[in-house]
Amino acid sequence: MSNNLLAGKVGIISGALDEKSIAWKVAQRAHAQGARFVLTNAPIAMRMGEIKKLSAECDAPIIPADATSVEELEALFSGAQEHLGGKLDFVLHSIGMSPNVRKKKDYGNLDYKFFQQTIDVSAMSFHKMMHVAEKQDALNEWASIVALSYIAAQRVFPDYTDMSQAKAMLESIARNYGHRLGVQKKVRVNTISQSPTKTTAGTGVGGFDAFFDYADKMSPLGNAPAEACADYCISLFSDLTRYVTMQNLLHDGGFSSMGISEHVVEALTKMAETQQA
Ligand SMILES: NC(=O)c1ccc[n+]([C@@H]2O[C@H](COP(=O)([O-])OP(=O)(O)OC[C@H]3O[C@@H](n4cnc5c(N)ncnc54)[C@H](O)[C@@H]3O)[C@@H](O)[C@H]2O)c1
Repeated sequence: MSNNLLAGKVGIISGALDEKSIAWKVAQRAHAQGARFVLTNAPIAMRMGEIKKLSAECDAPIIPADATSVEELEALFSGAQEHLGGKLDFVLHSIGMSPNVRKKKDYGNLDYKFFQQTIDVSAMSFHKMMHVAEKQDALNEWASIVALSYIAAQRVFPDYTDMSQAKAMLESIARNYGHRLGVQKKVRVNTISQSPTKTTAGTGVGGFDAFFDYADKMSPLGNAPAEACADYCISLFSDLTRYVTMQNLLHDGGFSSMGISEHVVEALTKMAETQQA
């Protein structure tokens, strides 16, 4: 259903790799709500070709950019403004990658070169995007910038290893640029802390199925699906949330407020009974 919440708004959506990607759903929702935008991803992701389908569906051109490169981000932001015919109203940062997670390195044996890559791709890229946006004066007043985070920024999820530090940094960057861009141009900057979601990045984390099920059993509403996360992004890009900024917004079905749930008690009780039998 469309309420034309983003009619007349233009922006950049990063991170749509395939149909499972959260950014893919954001692009579909933004298109349905009347926005025009440019899609972007790392040149290597482009080779997989999936994003071209989304580009055709949303009538959105693709400008490839490795988000760790300031030069490529400069070309992205200037190209997007040229194509869209003016300054931007929204930007989605939906980028995450950890070579340590991919290679299942234990927290006590992380590769520090990989660690730097994790930080560069998953957190510093967010700083670089806003740095470029500010230098190019690429944002309209009341523009909205959103990045996607995970609760491992605050709590321990052992298999998430160095991504936990990346997310903590991402959320801190949102607060600091939120202050800066708010004072300068009334621009909002927030992170959404999303439930575990079955995407390429998500399922790459060791033990994903277990903590997906655990979070689902712990959350009164169950895990928030990618489509619902996209809806939340749209609300933050819209004019209905103009005074929300510098926040880490939990989109997790209630997970973060729970101690233990009846579902988990039941599962553990059953397990104990099986062990005794
Ligand atoms: N899936 C989950 O369980 C979950 C939960 C909370 C938060 N998130 C976050 O949501 C965001 C999107 O992830 P997703 O789950 O949709 O998975 P995804 O794998 O579909 O998306 C990750 C994207 O990052 C892109 N990327 C990687 N390196 C890049 C680079 N150097 N430059 C530009 N783009 C690059 C990938 O090409 C891909 O499109 C990430 O920040 C992720 O950490 C995911």
